Amino acid sequence: MQPTGVFISFEGIDGAGKSSHIQALSEAFRQQGREVVQTREPGGTALAEKLRDIVLHDAMDPLCEALLVFAARRDHLLQVIEPALAKGQVVLCDRFTDATFAYQGGGRGFDTRVLAQLETWVQARPDKSIRQPDITLWFSLDPHIAAQRLATARVPDRFESQPLVFFEQVHNAYADRVKADPERFAIIAADATIDKVRQSVWQALAQRGYLPTNAL
Ligand code: TYD
Repeated sequence: MQPTGVFISFEGIDGAGKSSHIQALSEAFRQQGREVVQTREPGGTALAEKLRDIVLHDAMDPLCEALLVFAARRDHLLQVIEPALAKGQVVLCDRFTDATFAYQGGGRGFDTRVLAQLETWVQARPDKSIRQPDITLWFSLDPHIAAQRLATARVPDRFESQPLVFFEQVHNAYADRVKADPERFAIIAADATIDKVRQSVWQALAQRGYLPTNAL
């Protein structure tokens, strides 16, 4: 029998360190015999990757930014995420719509009612339900610590170069999203050692039955 598709998204401010854990999880699911699609937003298709490049590097107003990330998301859902879930695969997505509420809504201060409207259009499914991740891991990290980590990182993009207050707003907007839908979120304390973070990621997925508990 074909397994049920699982849609997992990963969120957090820049510098929260989610990438290495996504890679490790991808291997863990494969070891369980699951087919895995590892992808990211904005991005994941040829069109969406072009839009990513524009969003991360070209100056634009917040509505333009919101429209472009949702346009990228629409293509990504239609071309990659929905087909993978229909085939029973595990989709590991580095950021999804919570990032739009956090960055465009919280960081840029853009009207979240407009974002919510775009969300219902872009994520609408044929049965009229709205596609959401089955579980979202929020890598929660004090924006001061994230800023220190980023200071030593690569050339910053349009978001990474924002001041601390921007990331405080992003962080608070993530916290609001968690409050609004606590069932969907698992909060991962990202200031712990890599090994501890890895354990809490595994635990969050094991508790929900997506991975075995014995490998903790
Ligand atoms: P990120 O996922 O951190 O990738 P990398 O690790 O390669 O830098 O970068 C994506 C950036 O895009 C991040 O700063 C958040 C931003 N973003 C938005 O502003 N809105 C969105 O809807 C999404 C998905 C991302």
